Amino acid sequence: DWTMASFRQESVARIREQVGQGRVICGLSGGVDSSVAAVLIHEAIGDQLTCVFVDTGLLRQNEAEQVVTMFRDHYNIPLVHVDAGDLFLGELKGVTDPETKRKTIGRLFVEVFDREAAKIEGAAFLAQGTLYPDVIESVSARGGPSAVIKSHHNVGGLPEYMKLKLVEPLRELFKDEVRALGVELGLPPPFVGRHPFPGPGLAIRIPGEITPEKVAVLQKADAIYLEEIRKAGLYDSIWQAFAVLLPVKTVGVMGDARTYEDVLALRAVTSTDGMTADFFEFPWEVLGRCATRIINEVRGVNRVVYDVTSKPPGTIEWE
Ligand code: XMP
Repeated sequence: DWTMASFRQESVARIREQVGQGRVICGLSGGVDSSVAAVLIHEAIGDQLTCVFVDTGLLRQNEAEQVVTMFRDHYNIPLVHVDAGDLFLGELKGVTDPETKRKTIGRLFVEVFDREAAKIEGAAFLAQGTLYPDVIESVSARGGPSAVIKSHHNVGGLPEYMKLKLVEPLRELFKDEVRALGVELGLPPPFVGRHPFPGPGLAIRIPGEITPEKVAVLQKADAIYLEEIRKAGLYDSIWQAFAVLLPVKTVGVMGDARTYEDVLALRAVTSTDGMTADFFEFPWEVLGRCATRIINEVRGVNRVVYDVTSKPPGTIEWE
């Protein structure tokens, strides 16, 4: 009889057995998976765990603060918060190719993380929130053509010079199971129910060159979109919803003046594991409200479009 409560107990026992008296570093991304992994491991080994949160500056609006508050104040889990936004945006300057963006972010992430990890004395283990679909995708990517489609940097990302052993307590779980485990561990349901978010973050939702200004515009628009989705009671029916800031300007009118500003695409899909997905059928008035609010409230955007591509043939993200 398999329940989350028994999975929790068995995992705690397994983590204790694997780790012994060793110190564990957990890379927090701000997302649900690594947070659930961290809380589970903390339950198993307490202060032998230190979390390192590399803040890329590419998270959704206010998300970094939420993670820090939750871990430090609510759970009392030792947390190193590295505010690396300037570094990431600096290195991404002029980078337009999607794979180069991913590789740049992956490399920086490892560098920053490694530097912080080296300061944690006696660390022998590295914890990650790897899920079953991540394992499958990276395995199939090694041999198949999907390897050239996208490189996922959150799997097997151990640099040679970091001789840490991996602790991956979520390796057998699907996303919905991780959420159930999160609730079982006492994480707030709205946090646990948050949509998946890619490691490279908003960088792959800004086709073309990324600038701090574009990141700020996208964060604002994305927050409005998600707020309207929540207000309409649709958040939990959607697997992922997000905005994409296009490198395209179009003409509009504002009052009696002509505008020439960026186009924002809205995306929302249903899915069970992210491997396939259907575009979400919004009530038109919800989309209309989003468009009106975004154009009125976000400087620099004068047109909003909705993506009706399913996966396959599209991917969920635009890059
Ligand atoms: P795609 O765009 O491939 O996305 O249909 C499937 C799921 O994976 C997420 N995704 C990523 N996650 N690093 C990640 O950690 C990545 O490079 C990456 N690319 C896509 C995407 O958000 C969706 O949930």
